[in-house]
Amino acid sequence: MTRALITGGAGFIGSHAADSLLAAGYEVRLLDNLSPQVHGDNRQRPSYLAADAELIIGDVTDADAVERALRGADMVLHLASVVGVGQSMYDIEPYVRTNEVGTAVLLQALSKGPVERLVVASSMSIYGEGLYRSADQSVIACEERPIEQLRNGDWELRDKAGSPLEPVPTPETKQPSLSSIYALNKYAQERMCLITGKAYGIPTLALRFFNVFGPRQALSNPYTGVLAIFAARLLNGRRPLVFEDGLQRRDFVHVHDVARACRMALEADHAQDVFNVGSGQSRNILSVAQDLADVMGRPDIEPEITRKYRAGDIRHCFADIGKSRDVLGFIPHIHFKDGLEELAEYLGDQIADDQAERATHELLQRGLVA
Ligand code: NAD
Ligand code: UD1
Repeated sequence: MTRALITGGAGFIGSHAADSLLAAGYEVRLLDNLSPQVHGDNRQRPSYLAADAELIIGDVTDADAVERALRGADMVLHLASVVGVGQSMYDIEPYVRTNEVGTAVLLQALSKGPVERLVVASSMSIYGEGLYRSADQSVIACEERPIEQLRNGDWELRDKAGSPLEPVPTPETKQPSLSSIYALNKYAQERMCLITGKAYGIPTLALRFFNVFGPRQALSNPYTGVLAIFAARLLNGRRPLVFEDGLQRRDFVHVHDVARACRMALEADHAQDVFNVGSGQSRNILSVAQDLADVMGRPDIEPEITRKYRAGDIRHCFADIGKSRDVLGFIPHIHFKDGLEELAEYLGDQIADDQAERATHELLQRGLVA
């Protein structure tokens, strides 16, 4: 039986990846330090973890724990990370330690005992802004919007003549544009894995996840995704707060599809490459808030368009998933609204202590929203 080690395997994506691998007949071991920001202060084994998944509680920066976790492992899915984009800008050392040094510790161990395959979680955050088409039909990469423009409530990216640019799907060939320590960490992780994998003959793939959503999304984390934040507000009878004018576009991909992509990457013949993992569809944030209110039976609660902006936010980014489809055979299955219903059901049981309110507060307090 093939044994897969998932670092960060007790988290949102890792636990679903574990379910997918167990269902396919793998033995699954998880290495996770049950970080309090994700799992709460008593750091219990999460009840959603499959009983068959072996959990080693340990830190990815601890060489002994990593060596123990690797014993007998045939494949590694490396997901362990601290994941807050905003938080990475003031907790710089912990972010570099877990995300970059942790990856280095894992790779050091793999250099001594290679595995059959390594898959690492990268992120759409490495792209910065997505790609745009200009009036002359050329496809271009853009700088972040200047703060002056945002202060004037002018949200779209523009060409030199001032005309708005049209966002287009972003393929893996777009040059990275790193605007946070987290984005830098994710790029470092994928490059370190690809370089070391190549040197030691370990077929290695990096998956650039877009905005993943679904059950088990950590509400206790102040940097949880927008859907969990909106759902928490709706469940408390409050209006979702939409930044900018709400027409910014993202690619929401369901965690079941992401878990399947992880398994497909572990099983692929292809090696040493990067792949987008998104839904291939783009949605604006305002419509997402409205869709969520509908599936939650609260169409009466209208989103509030705040015209505020969040430091470092990009305007549009959504995935071109042509390469994942052609090379890995990855086709997303979960329809957005079905996924929303499942998320809302899950969050309904979670909401007693209204963590998402606290999450929004954290950002306001630190001046990450203006
Ligand atoms: P998550 O926070 O739910 O899971 C991460 C897990 O890693 C947690 O269980 C945490 O306890 C563990 N962890 C943290 N520090 C650790 C350490 N030092 N040692 C061992 N374990 C540690 O996050 P997630 O959404 O499941 O993200 C999984 C991966 O996917 C991460 O690498 C993240 O950067 C990447 N990613 C996620 C998204 C998304 O939308 N969720 C998007 C792009 C990329
Ligand atoms: C960011 C990261 C990405 C990470 C993701 C989830 C970047 C470029 N990307 O994506 O790597 O995977 O977080 O952790 O940093 N919004 C509101 N109201 C809210 C909260 C958010 O309108 O209360 C808007 C944001 O302004 C943004 C959109 O919703 O336009 C999506 O936000 P979010 O879910 O935080 O994810 P991203 O910023 O896309």
